[in-house]
Amino acid sequence: MAAKGFTIDFSDKCIVITGGNRGIGYAYSRAVAQAGARVAIIYRSSKDAHEVAEKLGKEFGVQVKAYQCDVSDAEKTTETFSLIDKDLGPVTGLIANAGVSVVKPALELTSEDFHKVYGVNVLGVFNSTKAAAKLWIDKKHGGSIVITSSMSSRIINQVAPNEPLTQVFYNSSKGAVSTLMKGLAAEWATHGIRVNALSPGYVNTDQTSGMERHVLENQAKTVPLGRFAEPHEMTGQAVLLLSDRASYMTGGEYFVDGYVWYDGLMLIIRF
Ligand SMILES: NC(=O)c1ccc[n+]([C@@H]2O[C@H](COP(=O)([O-])OP(=O)(O)OC[C@H]3O[C@@H](n4cnc5c(N)ncnc54)[C@H](OP(=O)(O)O)[C@@H]3O)[C@@H](O)[C@H]2O)c1
Repeated sequence: MAAKGFTIDFSDKCIVITGGNRGIGYAYSRAVAQAGARVAIIYRSSKDAHEVAEKLGKEFGVQVKAYQCDVSDAEKTTETFSLIDKDLGPVTGLIANAGVSVVKPALELTSEDFHKVYGVNVLGVFNSTKAAAKLWIDKKHGGSIVITSSMSSRIINQVAPNEPLTQVFYNSSKGAVSTLMKGLAAEWATHGIRVNALSPGYVNTDQTSGMERHVLENQAKTVPLGRFAEPHEMTGQAVLLLSDRASYMTGGEYFVDGYVWYDGLMLIIRF
């Protein structure tokens, strides 16, 4: 008799997670470690990333290592993926999750702000996906990539009714990376590489905790579920997309945002 239950077992997988040391990325690291994967966490500057990795490895009895790498640096990113492949590999999956925002009125935004946001959210994602795909195409085997985009790829976040959250570089970078995902999915499908995006809504992390209380309350009220998500609520979709259960899923953007959408329109807005 076949075994009962619907399991996803990553015992033979090695997953790289950029920004995997905190926030949503940490929740991804935890989830794939729990599923049995060897995990490579890429971080930029947090002092405790190695400690975070060690604790996670002990908790789930799997190998978890942290690697310092600024994903906006293409050469360093390629080197880091090769190192991970030797240390923990073969790499089988990637969550390109690292992302940053600059919140300022458009008239105050500078070229430096543009490079800061696009350097991580678009170029950094591209560098990470290219480094992973190169490993796989060289060895003639496939892999699965999940890109953390955002619901901001298709909405302009509000701080109050008709008052936008002023982050045009962030929103447009997420629109760009969602389109980048579709191009890569089309280009690499014949290599057995699947590429999808997971677009979170409002999630309680360091990225959102700095906002004023009334803004957070207003934003939560617009969500039919009436609250921000916790990071772990993003993980089910990501784990599915990384797994062989999703073998016919590529080029998709999956919104985990608590909103009700109908034909491109957000159905319920409640302030
Ligand atoms: N929170 C939300 O409500 C929300 C909603 C929609 C989408 N998102 C997206 O979800 C992703 C994670 O967001 P979060 O809220 O969890 O962010 P977060 O708590 O601010 O963490 C950001 C992570 O990205 C890493 N990182 C930043 N720049 C990097 C670089 N140049 N190279 C390598 N790593 C870098 C950071 O590493 P260090 O710790 O070393 O700095 C950190 O691990 C982002 O792409 C974000 O845009 C978030």
